[in-house]
Amino acid sequence: MKIAVIGAGAMGGAVASGLLNYAKDKYSLTVSNPSARPLEILSAEGATVTNNNVEAARDAEIVIVAVKPWIVETVLTEIKDSLDYSRQTVVVIAAGLTGLQMMEWLRKDGADEPSLLIAMPNTAVSVAQSMTFIVPVHASQSVTADVTGVFDFLGETMVIDEAHLPAATALASCGIAYAMRYVRAAVEGGVELGFKAAVAQKMVVQTLRGAAALLSIDGAHPESEIDKVTTPGGITIRGLNEMEHAGFTSAVIRGLKASVK
Ligand SMILES: NC(=O)c1ccc[n+]([C@@H]2O[C@H](COP(=O)([O-])OP(=O)(O)OC[C@H]3O[C@@H](n4cnc5c(N)ncnc54)[C@H](OP(=O)(O)O)[C@@H]3O)[C@@H](O)[C@H]2O)c1
Repeated sequence: MKIAVIGAGAMGGAVASGLLNYAKDKYSLTVSNPSARPLEILSAEGATVTNNNVEAARDAEIVIVAVKPWIVETVLTEIKDSLDYSRQTVVVIAAGLTGLQMMEWLRKDGADEPSLLIAMPNTAVSVAQSMTFIVPVHASQSVTADVTGVFDFLGETMVIDEAHLPAATALASCGIAYAMRYVRAAVEGGVELGFKAAVAQKMVVQTLRGAAALLSIDGAHPESEIDKVTTPGGITIRGLNEMEHAGFTSAVIRGLKASVK
């Protein structure tokens, strides 16, 4: 299958690089971008590169547009005349745009409606550990499966409806920053307790990896994992309750809700 990635910045570049590294034999990739530097890197990894969006999109079965939200309209209107909607699918990675807007930008007189999906990976796409949401704005089940299959190479994928996208983005895309802030806080605590920052970070990151692995087992629940480490009257429950007195759970919920507003 041929894939075009238009926009080789942080997100488009990471998606392209991930596909080149983790799905080399599955897809042939063309990437377009105005500036040359990201193209040089992706070309060395095996992509065909160009600074011409129309040329990149022309032969691709799936065209992934990964530019800043305010540039999406320009790119979609630029490439639409060269697209054959009966065989080509458009996937847009951009926050804050509606499917309706993008369908409008892609509309062509006398042509069928395009297959359009929104994809929202998070920055862990660069290490093939993304939580990616796929919104089929206007797409059949088989087209949705094809697009999901692409992002499955880059982590976990979940098909959701558009109404849930802002909340999902708060949990998983903004969520990367929230998880990082927990790590930073724990490392700062570790330094006060006498460890060098790099050592504390190693401890915290491996602990999170362990927590994530425990929760990946079917039926696992955070509270039952917490029960296993909280001896009555012990040190873990003392620490946890102190965090709760300082508003830990409430701060997380308030932060997530603020992200969606
Ligand atoms: N879910 C998340 O966690 C997350 C995180 C970040 C971004 N995003 C989404 O991903 C999208 C891309 O963001 P980003 O962070 O990757 O932005 P970025 O790093 O600024 O990359 C945008 C790229 O688009 C290129 N570009 C600009 N105009 C173009 C045009 N007319 N045709 C083709 N390419 C063009 C830029 O090239 P030049 O540099 O040469 O101008 C740049 O390489 C955004 O819409 C954003 O909402 C999601």
